[in-house]
Amino acid sequence: MTPGRPFLQIPGPTLVPDRVTRAMSQPMIDHRGPKFAALLREILNGLKKLFKSASGQIVLFPGSGTGGWESCVVNTLSPGDLVLGCVNGYFSDLFCRTAKLHGIEVETLELPYGLGIPADQIEQRLRADSGRRIKAVLVVHNETSTGVTTDVAAIRQAMERASHPALLLVDVVSSLGCIDLRFDDWKLDVALAAPQKGLMMPPGMAILAVSERALQANESAKCGRAFWDWRPVLENNAAGQFPYTPATALLFGMSESLKMIFEEGLENVFNRHARLAEACRRATQAMNLKLFPRNPAEYSNTLTAVSMPDEYDADGFINHMLRRFDLSLGKGLGKARGKLFRIGHLGSLNELELLGALAAVEMALFSFGVKLPLGAGLSAAEAYLLESAPNLPST
Ligand SMILES: Cc1ncc(COP(=O)(O)O)c(C=O)c1O
Repeated sequence: MTPGRPFLQIPGPTLVPDRVTRAMSQPMIDHRGPKFAALLREILNGLKKLFKSASGQIVLFPGSGTGGWESCVVNTLSPGDLVLGCVNGYFSDLFCRTAKLHGIEVETLELPYGLGIPADQIEQRLRADSGRRIKAVLVVHNETSTGVTTDVAAIRQAMERASHPALLLVDVVSSLGCIDLRFDDWKLDVALAAPQKGLMMPPGMAILAVSERALQANESAKCGRAFWDWRPVLENNAAGQFPYTPATALLFGMSESLKMIFEEGLENVFNRHARLAEACRRATQAMNLKLFPRNPAEYSNTLTAVSMPDEYDADGFINHMLRRFDLSLGKGLGKARGKLFRIGHLGSLNELELLGALAAVEMALFSFGVKLPLGAGLSAAEAYLLESAPNLPST
């Protein structure tokens, strides 16, 4: 038993604010009744605002981000279709594998872990596809395994320069509600997410925004689908219902979480994430540690992936941290296994909470034997948070 606030500093699930927890503990309501219809309408409108989409449709499922991949693939593609799968980490690899498991031919554009997806390489490949065989480009906006954000707007521009009709299917699991994301402006065809990151909710849902073109693709897509089919959900949603018993408690939570995000202001939420991320990066660099992502322009604002110095075992450090401070950090995944630790700073988090986590990282590294100037990290983060503080309204 550790007294006080638990520190869950993995890049999702994040801590669930009390307001969301309380909302989820309301008594159940009839999921075919008018109260439910009103709740659903409000959530769908809120999610559209969150995705910055007036033209897209929202499709919700009980599930997780992994289910979101599957729903995205089976609703837009047919076995034998060719897609360009961009792989720059563990999650983008799994997204592509989901497509392969459904009989899709995936040509991978593989980048070393730590890099974003270069739009010019996508343009080149699409230009070379004179027969227009490539049906879709699969990309992860924020690769949570490496702390790298890809410039998705640039990818859409590259596709336009190549005048290629492929769909743009994007995993926004760890960017939605944290990093700027513009479904309409970037002409995304599918953006799929999950609620346990920027939405500050417990896991348990898949959230998709789908474009008109994606809905057209759904009509001819031949992948087998039943539960993950968008059509029955959209048809039932129009009448304020779902084609099955929905996850009502999670929807109560989602309604509250959307309220909290819009009360703070979406752009303020992005700015808060950006400030906390920069403070975290400055702290880790002041501890003489190296950031895992290679290009500063691609640093993620939802998590910081830190390379463990060669002579130390990253997973051993993470276990030491948990034992000493009951603070969880993200482990290295896939090819980055054992090489790094990931500090999540997304969702419901403020400056002092981040400083608490950074103090723990610094103390745990020091007591694990890593040579660092104790206090330098915390001090760098404090200095940055002071100098970048937004002006308070005068009283
Ligand atoms: C970018 C990204 N995509 C997909 C997933 C998979 O989501 P889930 O674990 O909810 O199935 C994750 C999980 O962390 C993720 O970070």
